[in-house]
Amino acid sequence: MDVSPSSVRVSETKAQTESVMRLVEISAGYWLPRALHVVADLAIADALDQEPRSAADLAKELGADADALDRVLRLLASHGVFDRRSGKYAHNALSRALRSDHPQSMRAYVRLVGLPVFWKSWGALEQVVRSGKPAVSDIFAYFREHPQETEIFDAGMKSKAQSAISPVIEAYDFSIFGTIGDIGGGLGHLLKAVLKSVPKLRGVLFDQPHVIERVGVDETIASRLILEEGDFFRGPLPRCDVYVVMEVLHDWADEQSRQILQQIRKAAPDNAKLLVVETILPNESAWAAGNGAHFGNHLDINMLVLTGGRERTPDEFANLFAECGWQLARVIPTSSPYSIVEAVAA
Ligand SMILES: C[S@@+](CC[C@H](N)C(=O)[O-])C[C@H]1O[C@@H](n2cnc3c(N)ncnc32)[C@H](O)[C@@H]1O
Repeated sequence: MDVSPSSVRVSETKAQTESVMRLVEISAGYWLPRALHVVADLAIADALDQEPRSAADLAKELGADADALDRVLRLLASHGVFDRRSGKYAHNALSRALRSDHPQSMRAYVRLVGLPVFWKSWGALEQVVRSGKPAVSDIFAYFREHPQETEIFDAGMKSKAQSAISPVIEAYDFSIFGTIGDIGGGLGHLLKAVLKSVPKLRGVLFDQPHVIERVGVDETIASRLILEEGDFFRGPLPRCDVYVVMEVLHDWADEQSRQILQQIRKAAPDNAKLLVVETILPNESAWAAGNGAHFGNHLDINMLVLTGGRERTPDEFANLFAECGWQLARVIPTSSPYSIVEAVAA
C-alpha cells in the first residue's frame, strides 16, 4: 500500500471533494423532483407511446417551450426517468409508471407532492423551524376548499398506498376478524384490498363526507362494505373487531392523535385490535447501531411543514397509546417502508 505523503494528500483531497460534492447534491436536490412534478403535470408520459419522440414534438402537442422541455427531460433521463436516444425520448420502466393508465401509476402521487400548497409550505421551512408551527394552519380545511387539489390529493394517496397495501396484507392475518374499520381510509384502497383478500370479512370505511361521496365500490365487495361519513374527532365511530388507521395519526400532533385514539377506543369492543400503518422512526438504539436512515425521517418533515403532525418511534407510539386506553402489543415490519403497529385495549 502506498502511504507516501503525496498519496495521502491525494486521497485527502479526493475525500474533501467528495464531501463538498455531497453537500452540493443535497442542497440542489430539489431541482430534480421539481422537474419530475412539472413533467407529471404536463402529462408528458401520457403523450409518449411506443415510438421515441423529440421534445419539440411533445412541446408542440402539449403547449410547452421545446428547448426548456428538452432540457428538463434530459435531466430526468440522466437519472433514469425516460431514455434519451439520438436526441429523442423513449419510455422506460420509471417513465411508464408516470402514465395515467399504468396499473401502478404514480402520476397522481408525483403531482400531489408537487402541489402549490406543498411547494409553498416547504419554501417556508425556515419559518416553520423558527416557530415550530406548520406553514398551513389546517391542511384538511384547505383541501375542503380546493376541490381540484383534493382530487389530486386523494388520487395521490391511492397511488402511494400501492407500495404499502400488498406488504400489509402479506404481513397480517385479517381472516380472524368479522368486521374491519378503516378510519380516515380515504377512497378505501387499503380496505377494499383487504376485503378482496378475505372473502367473509365485512368492512366500514370512515372518512369525511366530501371524501366518502367520491368512493367508488366494485360489485364483488359491495355487499360487505359500508361507507360511513363523519368526523373522527367527534365520533361516533363504528363498532368493529379490528381498526386500521393508515397514515392518519402522523397528520396530527399528540393532542389530536389522542382524541382520535380515544374515539376509536370508545367504539371498540374490549377484545378489538388497533393497527396503525405508518412509517416508524428508528428508536435511539437503532441510531446508536448506525441504523438511523429511514424514509420516515423525510415524511416526518413533510408532516412538520404541512400538518403539524409527526412520524413516531415505537416508544412514542407506546406512550401515546398508554394515554388513551390502548397498549402497544407489537410492531410488525412489512416488506415496504411501512410497519403495522398493533395495539390492544389496555
Ligand atoms: C393522509 S390521508 C390517509 C388516507 C388513507 N388512510 C391512506 O393511507 O391512503 C388522511 C385521511 O384522513 C381523513 N380525515 C382528515 N380529517 C378527518 C376527520 N376529522 N374525520 C374523518 N376523516 C378525516 C382525510 O380525509 C384523509 O382521507
